Amino acid sequence: MTSAIACANANVALAKYWGKRDEALNLPATGSISVTLAGLETVARVAFIPDLPTDLVTFAGELAPPGEAGRLSRFVDLVRGQARTRARATVDIRSNFPVAAGLASSASTYAALARAATAAAGLPVSDTELSILARRGSGSACRSIFGGFVEWLRGTAADGSDSYAVPVAPADHWNVAVAVAVTARGPKAVGSREGMARAAELSRYYPAWVASQPADLDAIRQGIRDRDLALVGTTAEQNCLAMHAVALTAQPPLLYWNAATLAVMHRVRALREDGVDAYFTIDAGPQVKVLCPRPQRDAVAAALRAVEGVVDVLLSGPGEGVHLMEAT
Ligand code: DP6
Repeated sequence: MTSAIACANANVALAKYWGKRDEALNLPATGSISVTLAGLETVARVAFIPDLPTDLVTFAGELAPPGEAGRLSRFVDLVRGQARTRARATVDIRSNFPVAAGLASSASTYAALARAATAAAGLPVSDTELSILARRGSGSACRSIFGGFVEWLRGTAADGSDSYAVPVAPADHWNVAVAVAVTARGPKAVGSREGMARAAELSRYYPAWVASQPADLDAIRQGIRDRDLALVGTTAEQNCLAMHAVALTAQPPLLYWNAATLAVMHRVRALREDGVDAYFTIDAGPQVKVLCPRPQRDAVAAALRAVEGVVDVLLSGPGEGVHLMEAT
């Protein structure tokens, strides 16, 4: 094989990854659990070309900015190292969701790139090996290898060999939906990587965050298995607020929310008072993801669209893991 195309979905964490025990290897301080999001996808195309002098990295056909191109190229170096090849590659990354809307794309990008680059290099890999590889590109990418509900195991080994994702339940296990309320367009001010490093080093609440994560993981894992939305939703909301408490107490503080983010949080609470089982979670940005029963998703989406400052609502739900579309 010399070229391949792969597709991966984004994911949203219900118990967050927020802090590392090893920055070079993206080893997390705690485990995390996410749901892979149907329809929010990234396609990666990789072709190894023997005489190419350097990697050529494009985003939807346009030359990628040097910083991002370098990070993607260093990731392809890992695959070259494992496959014992020096061939440079053309790499094209395109996402079907608005990256400029500040939705995390590194998870779907590195999951798709891991799959495409290993296939293009003719490197046979198991799903676990793929998850470990994707983790090196971006921690959350290790979870997008699998579909449905996924847990990333913290692991204890210094080389990261036991820190990878495992499926908790497949996409069709549970009839839930995720509505994404977009409250701002444009890239976020402080990305997850820098944000979690600053929070881990400088928030007085960070040790408490790390200590409380195992109980949240147990509750969410069990809640997913039992299809207990109240348990999963309540725990995910608390976990999100705890992560943001750590961010807010970093030096300087990280405040990812805008006025519409807060208005959506209040709206979700009001929906619950009206008997709708909706729960929010927020990553390192101003967008709000709302978990609800699938039959209620249109009503929830309409309620979110009516909140002042919400510019768009995307509808998703549990989706499939990474897959190879073509390899030649
Ligand atoms: C808030 O996976 O983007 O979305 O490993 O440094 O690339 P790096 O970080 P990244 O962080 C994601 C953080 C989060 C929570 C989560 O997805 O668990």
